[in-house]
Amino acid sequence: MKCPRCQQDNSTEQKFYGECGTPLAGAARARPYADLKDENEGLSRSLTEALEQHRVAGKPRAFSRCFVALAVVLCTALSAGAQPPAVRTPESERERWNQIFTRQPASIRTDANRLLVQVASELVPGVALDIGMGFGRNAIFLARRGWRVTGFDISDVGVEKARLAAQAENLPLTASREDMFKFDYGLNRYDLIAFLYMPAADRLARQIADALKPGGVLVIEHFLRRPDGSLGYESRALPKLFPTLEVLRYAEDDSNPDYDQENVGRVVRFLARKAR
Ligand SMILES: C[S@@+](CC[C@H](N)C(=O)[O-])C[C@H]1O[C@@H](n2cnc3c(N)ncnc32)[C@H](O)[C@@H]1O
Repeated sequence: MKCPRCQQDNSTEQKFYGECGTPLAGAARARPYADLKDENEGLSRSLTEALEQHRVAGKPRAFSRCFVALAVVLCTALSAGAQPPAVRTPESERERWNQIFTRQPASIRTDANRLLVQVASELVPGVALDIGMGFGRNAIFLARRGWRVTGFDISDVGVEKARLAAQAENLPLTASREDMFKFDYGLNRYDLIAFLYMPAADRLARQIADALKPGGVLVIEHFLRRPDGSLGYESRALPKLFPTLEVLRYAEDDSNPDYDQENVGRVVRFLARKAR
């Protein structure tokens, strides 16, 4: 496909932009990293700003009453020996996701992630890694398309579901229960790595980049950081985490997250390639 401005033909390169940065046809919603507007600045609103808004709205007394009440509740809880919220360990994550995948809520999508579908349709099938594959919706999709897939997850319930689904169709999926922080990613192994709706890219970035073959592609989709800081990546953080990869696409938008349809919020999509 030809870039409308620089006329460079990138059809063999799976690019979403011409060399000059102009979006190519079919990539209308993608925007170059450098062109992103500062539209997310307001997301990480500080407590001071929140307080200021209450004052502007003319409710300082109501707010301070709430604040005092909250402080009293906290002090009471602490003096009663209450524990701070539990830290997520691999074991607690395993249990949490085992419960979710046993219930299999209807809101969790079972079809493949659309960004991955789009990317895979432009690549020749090779060797793929699905990190935190859940019950395998994306790994199974890739395997059906002829990719040789390794997928792992901390949840044995998820892994077993994926393994059975692959077995039923005789698909090339190697599924195992692994902790992503202990997995042996290796060097130059994969043509495609999927990191979909997964946290902690900052802790794994180096290993993920190393694990890509030259020319290999990394696909990430996740929530943008929630205003309360509870989930997701900071605006514009992903390209900085992978400085050795060429960014093919970076977009932040309000479209529905392509995972749990009840868990709505802003989304970041990131596609990058290792130099050949
Ligand atoms: C939001 S789900 C995403 C699943 C899948 N990527 C998808 O898009 O369908 C997050 C997944 O991360 C897995 N997970 C959480 N911590 C993990 C860890 N330390 N190692 C491997 N998988 C982990 C969970 O079990 C769960 O399947």
